[in-house]
Amino acid sequence: MPITVDISFTSLEKAQGETLVALAEAKFGLGTRAQALDKAGDGQLKRAAKAAGFKGATKSALDLLAPHGLDCDRILLVGAGDVSALGRNDWVLLGGRIYGELKRRRIAEATVILETKSAPVEPDAAAAVALGAQLRAYRFDEFKSQAPKSGDGDDEAGEDGAKKGPGKLRFAVKEPGKAEKCFAEETHVAAGVGLARDLVNAPANALGPVEFADRLASLAEHGLDVDVLDEKALGKLGMGALLGVAQGSARPARVVVMRWNGSAKKRAKPICFVGKGVVFDTGGISLKPAKGMEDMKGDMAGAAAVAGVMRALAGRKAPVNAVGIVGLVENMPSSKAQRPGDIVRSLAGKTIEVLNTDAEGRLVLADLLWHAEDSFKPQAMINLATLTGAIMVALGKEHAGLFSNDDELAAGLMAAGQATGERLWRMPLDAAYDRELDSKTADMRNIGGPYGGTIIAAQFLKRFVREVPWAHLDVAGTAMASASSDVSESWGSGFGVRLLDQLVRDVYQER
Ligand code: BES
Ligand code: MN
Ligand code: ZN
Repeated sequence: MPITVDISFTSLEKAQGETLVALAEAKFGLGTRAQALDKAGDGQLKRAAKAAGFKGATKSALDLLAPHGLDCDRILLVGAGDVSALGRNDWVLLGGRIYGELKRRRIAEATVILETKSAPVEPDAAAAVALGAQLRAYRFDEFKSQAPKSGDGDDEAGEDGAKKGPGKLRFAVKEPGKAEKCFAEETHVAAGVGLARDLVNAPANALGPVEFADRLASLAEHGLDVDVLDEKALGKLGMGALLGVAQGSARPARVVVMRWNGSAKKRAKPICFVGKGVVFDTGGISLKPAKGMEDMKGDMAGAAAVAGVMRALAGRKAPVNAVGIVGLVENMPSSKAQRPGDIVRSLAGKTIEVLNTDAEGRLVLADLLWHAEDSFKPQAMINLATLTGAIMVALGKEHAGLFSNDDELAAGLMAAGQATGERLWRMPLDAAYDRELDSKTADMRNIGGPYGGTIIAAQFLKRFVREVPWAHLDVAGTAMASASSDVSESWGSGFGVRLLDQLVRDVYQER
């Protein structure tokens, strides 16, 4: 159950409640209503702010308890910084911070006055604030046998993880009807992010390829056409590279195709999203070291993001045709597992010498990319994969790696990254790296030398792309094992869902 906060909108006139939240701009700028509260309480807000040195800077907050002469119990001022400079994503982050401040104080319910010093917050910005709160409110407690403590504040303050955030937020805005309408779109994005996080956070014993495919099949209820291909179908197609990865596991592979046909032009070429879905990556016979291996339950984060964005597009009935395809396998060592040195035949007909069974993501994607371009004739194709540890060496956890054969597609993705805060950094593709992939006995091998591993992996994928504008996002550093942020306290971040939804809005959807 990803969404844990009930959100509603009301008018500024009806901004009442036990706990009131108001924004404070830099240099302690208050909106009309907060100023009125200050006045009615004989200047308590101003005095408290002065005493605390609170000026309204971003990431600061001031809590005024039991204000004298006012009919609320608490006023929480949240710093909004320089409001004139806030972009859409800054509003989202502000919403996340408001939720976080309430959670920290174990407040169960609040009314948030969305007004700045100079004006009420516009409906789309208000919806963005609500989205931020919703994203931050995500919890993964499916496997906790005890529910987290309630937000009443009387019980012993537990550690953060055991705390429950506010269950109810009311946003007081200028035009509640309009804000609600904007927010209705955003809830589908939040649901998509929630789905992606749920899938990434799920332990691999609970989420094998079959269970994953079943979860995706149930997305039909949101209007997606979902096809599940089993091993027999994949063998018939000739996906030898993908099946080679799966063959060591007792749990059979699946490929799932999700289609959303929202375009008014039925035959409009789709945009295609492709996801690496290794439900667990032990490395196979080229076994990974034990330390940290548990993180490899998240090696399906690319597939999870594809599912999430498809869920978002269908939910908000985006006027676009889109296809999502994911390859679901488990990379295990066993007596049936593929060995280093084995040669597999990919769907493209090219043979691959598997020198390291831990470079498995590219084998899965090779067949998916070839199949996607062939079958769906997309106008653009974007794959997401937790593909290399090397991308983290290069970019850390702040940017995902972007590789593309098309500058326009790359520019669109970069812009969407800026707009959503899911940031990308473009990396090179260059034929000069290709010699690393030469094999003595097959058309290519699946690993190169010790340097430039993330680029070599991208060069490998490129061999399975023909004409189509294509981008590869290496999300190994950004989609899993994530640090908390203003909009996420989750291990699986859901990275990619908001990014691709934004790209569709900016570039691909009709209107
Ligand atoms: N799934 C891993 C990449 C990864 C590592 C993702 C750490 C997230 C965190 C991938 O399948 C892998 O094992 N890549 C190898 C490639 C190497 C064998 C050429 C790597 O990065 O070490
Ligand atoms: Mn691997
Ligand atoms: Zn992997």
